[in-house]
Formats: sequence, structure tokens, C-alpha cells
Amino acid sequence: MPIAFITGVTGQDGSYLTELLLAKGYHVHGLVRRASMFNRSRIEHLRSDPGIYNKSLFLHYADLSDATTLRRLLLRIKPNELYHFAGQSHVGLSFEIPESTVQDAALSCLTLLEICRDLPNPIRFYHAATSEVFGATEEAPQKESTPMRPISPYGCAKAFATQICRVYREAYGIPVCSGIAYNHESIRRGENFVTHKIAKGAIQASRGAGLPLRLGNLAATRDWGYAPEYVEGMWKMLQLKSPRDLILATGKECSVRDFSKAAYAAAGVTLAFEGQGVKEVGRNVKTGSVLIQVDSVFFRPLEPHRLVGDASQAKQSIGWEAKTCAQELAGRLVRELQAIPS
Ligand code: GDD
Repeated sequence: MPIAFITGVTGQDGSYLTELLLAKGYHVHGLVRRASMFNRSRIEHLRSDPGIYNKSLFLHYADLSDATTLRRLLLRIKPNELYHFAGQSHVGLSFEIPESTVQDAALSCLTLLEICRDLPNPIRFYHAATSEVFGATEEAPQKESTPMRPISPYGCAKAFATQICRVYREAYGIPVCSGIAYNHESIRRGENFVTHKIAKGAIQASRGAGLPLRLGNLAATRDWGYAPEYVEGMWKMLQLKSPRDLILATGKECSVRDFSKAAYAAAGVTLAFEGQGVKEVGRNVKTGSVLIQVDSVFFRPLEPHRLVGDASQAKQSIGWEAKTCAQELAGRLVRELQAIPS
């Protein structure tokens, strides 16, 4: 039975991957950051299942900076696969707390690679890279060969981690790959990411509740897909005989404005936008009331040009393709959030 070790097991991707691997018969060991109050809500359904917890799912408590503990755990558990997801991943926040973001996203990856280098048995290693490494790229859609031009502390740290993974693969033969994943969303996404924020705002607006939703750059575009599909791609990447870096993306762009329209429509509210820049508002077409306002607080010092990925290599080499586009995703998030009892 294969054994996987997941850093960031309590996050969106960690929790979906845990479900996928358990269904495939893996034993899953998850690393949880030490804290006085744990946020394990995304895996609570697994943790509270006596047939799973401490039978096929095991949790270990340590910080990413506890290199000795990580080494000890990996020596003892002897996983076949390591998925590294943990760390601060909010791009806007990385401008506020750049040092800890870089510590998490860049140095912890190097620490894990150094540990893997010393282990007697090779571990297949998945590094969660990101479209943010392309930043101010002039190429669209981006391919694996597109030069990296990150424009945020988080993007810089992830570019370093992606490059150092390649170096360790080529220099020491470590079977490591970076999945260059574009935005992938679900109801397990943190509420400070824009898709969750919009879906929640749409539901509140449909109930006639609250103040207008305050958003940042409405013109920003992203390549948004559905997270459970992406963790399947991550697992597939690690099954390749010689792991290599691959882009996971839908190949389609959608603006924050259009995502909002789709989400509000799914909640039964037709939105129309008017005005420009910070004066732009989204109105309920039926009532005329303002439901979305722009707030410059949510703007970032720099915004990527056009992040949209070409995932044709993933299709060719691992048979992976995104199925859910941004508009469907918006509807799905709204319906799934509506179904959660309040
Ligand atoms: N968070 C947020 N909040 N973003 C907003 C808002 C707002 O109120 N208004 C507009 N935006 C715009 C941001 O400026 C950005 O252009 C876009 O919405 C998406 O923002 P996020 O949802 O925060 O995601 P991200 O693209 O910055 O980063 C996510 O995707 C990357 C690629 O997969 C994160 O998950 C990263 O960790 C990941 O690497």
C-alpha cells in the first residue's frame, strides 16, 4: 500500500488530495502547523471517522521551519510520495508579510529537498508551483517554457522553489516535479480569495442582506478552474516515470467582473456594471441598487498581465484536462455554498 506525506493537509488542495489518495488505498500522513487553535475543518469529516483516523490517515504536528522534526518524520514514515502544499499563499498578503511568505514558499521547499537528498529511499516529490511565477509575462497563453517574471514576493519565492526543484532533479536525480497550477477554486477556498468572496456576496445579495460587496481590481483576469480536478492532475504528475514540470490550467480567461456576473446570476440576481476605475459599481438590474463597489484597499501594488495557461503538455503526458470553466465554477460555488446550513 503506497504511503503519502502531505504538508498543508488542512488546506483546500491538501484536503481534496487526502480524499483522493484514501480512495485509492493510500495511507496518508499529513503535516499540520502547530497552533493553540487548530483549523482542521476541511478534514474534520475524515478526522472524526474512526474507520479512517489513525488507520489510514495520520496527522503530525510541526512547523515547516522544524527541519529536524520533518527529517525524523520522513525517516520514520518512509513515504513513497511527498506533496508540498503548506505555506502562506495569498498574493496580496505577501506584499504585507514578505519575509514569512518567502520563508514558507521558498526556503521550506529547499529544506524538504535537502532532507530528501539524504534519505536512503527516494521519495517522489510534488511541489505546488503557481502561475504567479509568470507575473509580468508578455506571452499568453503561458507554456512550461515561458520565462518566469514574477511580480510579487509570493511569485518570487515560488519561482525560486520551482527552479531549485529542477536543479535538485537534474543534479541529484531526485524525482521531483513542480505543478504550475493556475487558480483552482472550491468552497474550501479561504474567504479572502476573490471567488469565495464573490460567491458569498452573491448569496447575501440574493437574500437582500448587507452592504455592497467591496472588491479590488474588477478588470483583472484569471484562468480559474475547479480544485478537485487539479489535485487529480497533481497525483497523475507524480505517477510519471520521470516526473517533469507541467502546467495545469483551463486555457480560458475570465475577468473578476464577469466572474461576479456569473455568480450573481446563479444566485438569481442580474448585475450590470457602470462607471470606471474606482468609481465602477455593479447594480442590480431589477432594483437599481448598488451591490458591488470598488475599494482601492484590495488593489495590489502590481498585477500580473494576463495569466492564462496552455495545459496541452499535461493532456499529452498524463491525459489531464480541466473540465470546469470559470462560469460553471461560479455557479457551482454559489449552489454549494447555498446548500451549507447556516
Ligand atoms: N483576494 C482578492 N480580494 N482579490 C481580488 C479582489 C478582492 O477583493 N478584488 C479583485 N481581486 C483580484 C486580485 O487583484 C487578483 O487579480 C484576482 O482577483 C485573484 O485574486 P485571488 O483570488 O486573491 O487569487 P490570486 O490569483 O492572487 O492567487 C491565487 O491563485 C494563484 C495561482 O494559482 C492563490 O491561490 C495563489 O496562492 C495561487 O498561486
